[in-house]
Amino acid sequence: MGLGMTLGSHLGPLARSYIEQADVVFAGLSDGIVEMWLHKMHPDVRSLQPYYREGKSRMHTYREMVEAILTEVRAGKRVCGVFYGHPGVFAWAPHKSIEVARSEGYEAHMEPGISAEDCLYADLGIDPGRYGCQHFEASQLLFYKRRIDPTAYLVLWQVGLVGDQSLARFSTGPAYRELLVEVLAREYPLDHEITIYRGATLPIQQPRIRRIRLAELPQAEVGMEDTVVLPPVGPLQPDLEMRARLDALDKVEIKQDAGVL
Ligand SMILES: C[S@@+](CC[C@H](N)C(=O)[O-])C[C@H]1O[C@@H](n2cnc3c(N)ncnc32)[C@H](O)[C@@H]1O
Repeated sequence: MGLGMTLGSHLGPLARSYIEQADVVFAGLSDGIVEMWLHKMHPDVRSLQPYYREGKSRMHTYREMVEAILTEVRAGKRVCGVFYGHPGVFAWAPHKSIEVARSEGYEAHMEPGISAEDCLYADLGIDPGRYGCQHFEASQLLFYKRRIDPTAYLVLWQVGLVGDQSLARFSTGPAYRELLVEVLAREYPLDHEITIYRGATLPIQQPRIRRIRLAELPQAEVGMEDTVVLPPVGPLQPDLEMRARLDALDKVEIKQDAGVL
């Protein structure tokens, strides 16, 4: 289940009852204070943080997490995995745990939470429906040939780790972000204003919103918890041919509705 981003305020009553009714709770949280808070809600909370280690592949870490969770499931316990944000958003271990549990005949359910994406829409005043909104794990723009639509919003996750092929680093440096900028500059001008966003994880914090030019991204400080947002560049291009076909269709439908045809 997802604990949401901000301590206390994002946890709904259903999610709270999942925690309270579990025999064992595993915690994959972003903040030590949030973890302490969770400890007060349940006597057996086991942190997943110790599985992370710089130099160790995150895939290895995630597989160990899934194994730890499944070991308790196989022992007949009711197990709750609590993850910050939404457990199914840019998160491998929660999806895998559910998949493996179901494949072994156990009942498993994912309870959504408020993700960084939800906070970002609220804090930055973005409606994803206005121009459309694309989300990419930043490294995918370097590892693969992806198509970006620059007339929609572009949200980049894990920019602090962009280009890490080893999956074992906690951060990559300016040279890696330069390659990211090179890819983005195919679609956006270098002076395009972008936002580095970090939502509040504690109720006493304010969101951190930094606006810089795209060209400044390599030298900017970008941490593991930052998400980068590029607003659309240029207007939406009307599809005149499709509009003409819609007009023709409207005429027929309106006549039919009026009983003329
Ligand atoms: C492994 S993903 C986990 C996302 C999480 N499951 C969620 O629902 O938001 C980690 C990425 O989420 C984003 N993220 C995490 N914490 C954030 C925060 N406080 N503010 C903005 N983005 C955040 C960053 O892009 C970060 O690299």
